[in-house]
Amino acid sequence: MRILVVGGGGREHALCWAISASPLCSKLYCAPGNAGIAQVAECVEVGAEDIPGQVALARREKIDFVVVGPEVPLAAGLADRLAEAGIKVFGPSARAAQLESSKGFTKDLCRRHDIPTGAYERFTDLAKAEVYIKAQGAPIVVKADGLAAGKGVVVADTVEQALAAARDMLSGNRFGEAGASVVVEEFLAGEEASFFALCDGQHALALVGAQDHKRVLDDDKGPNTGGMGAYSPAPVFDAAMQQRTMDEIILPTVRAMAADGMPFKGVLYAGLMITAQGPKIFEYNCRFGDPECQVLMMRLKSDIVPALLASADGNLKHLDLRWSNDVALTVVMAARGYPDAYQKGSEIRGLAEASKVEGVQIFHAGTRADGNRILANGGRVLNVSALAPTVEEARARAYRAVDLIDWPEGFCRRDIAWRAVARKP
Ligand code: AMP
Ligand code: GLY
Repeated sequence: MRILVVGGGGREHALCWAISASPLCSKLYCAPGNAGIAQVAECVEVGAEDIPGQVALARREKIDFVVVGPEVPLAAGLADRLAEAGIKVFGPSARAAQLESSKGFTKDLCRRHDIPTGAYERFTDLAKAEVYIKAQGAPIVVKADGLAAGKGVVVADTVEQALAAARDMLSGNRFGEAGASVVVEEFLAGEEASFFALCDGQHALALVGAQDHKRVLDDDKGPNTGGMGAYSPAPVFDAAMQQRTMDEIILPTVRAMAADGMPFKGVLYAGLMITAQGPKIFEYNCRFGDPECQVLMMRLKSDIVPALLASADGNLKHLDLRWSNDVALTVVMAARGYPDAYQKGSEIRGLAEASKVEGVQIFHAGTRADGNRILANGGRVLNVSALAPTVEEARARAYRAVDLIDWPEGFCRRDIAWRAVARKP
């Protein structure tokens, strides 16, 4: 098969790495890709959000199967346009992608189907939101309804912060259309986990759980980011928790979406809070997590291509995947300044040496090649990933590789997987 992966981050590098190893893949393209992806796929300069450009590329290169990485093109209808062109695609339709592109849509679905989640109300009117926030008290969570590149959530410790967030969003200043409607949600206390399930419209196949590190600094300090590291498995998300999540959250969602005429195909990513009462969902995403995808691909032993195809074809019922029992861990190296302003163009050296460390794979998240040189080209730049029998060894391997990378303009957290390490007796 001729396969095209849409996107150009670490998630897409991990997907390309796994897909390129499949005997089913005869030719792999990635658009736009990056310098690391170029080692396993032919990169084409078409932006991930350029819907007509991606469809034209798929037609021109006679692509048999498109795998879409990020949410923005899915929410904009890339899967629909490809289907209309007769091209098979992994990823949901724009209507099904509402599970990510509208937080209110998901909350309403959970309420209708008794799916465990925090109490909430939706508002477009500031005065009404203010009354509700004051009545509920803090802590409380205020969310822009639409896509906001991971910045549309304010976990407010005080009523004043929550009121300011609601004002900010509903005034249209901060997130434009995405903030024209807000969800005000109960604060859920517990430990977070990310869980992934492949869906084919009717059935769901559990993948595995992972834990992300959203804050930029060690000890979970500093502002939120797209994710500074991840590891899998997450001890808090054991087999019993996974079964409950499938039964109480994922399967009811898949059934509800099918019943409502917008069957969900692709990967459903549940952002979960493991509370004293069990797993509760605080958000869905309609794509793999980044950097969670990197640790999932490190642990996946089966060929990924038949699984992605089964999701597109409605054949997941008969599929089974094998996973390594080892721990996979990824450390994100970012450009200094991230998640605020940062510089592009600094040179990264030592990658070849670093990738020789046992069990290590280095995925590129934001790089470009300049002749033989690799230059930083984004906020999150590298995902130094390792697989090992224990979390301690995976962590040691990943940081050994990090220390061999010569990039003074970059930084990383030093405490990835601290929860799993702290849990050990
Ligand atoms: P998001 O930007 O949607 O990934 O959300 C950012 C973070 O907000 C999540 O990773 C959670 O830590 C936190 N969060 C979202 N909803 C809730 C909630 N209802 N209770 C507590 N924390 C939440
Ligand atoms: N790692 C968080 C996300 O992909 O949204």
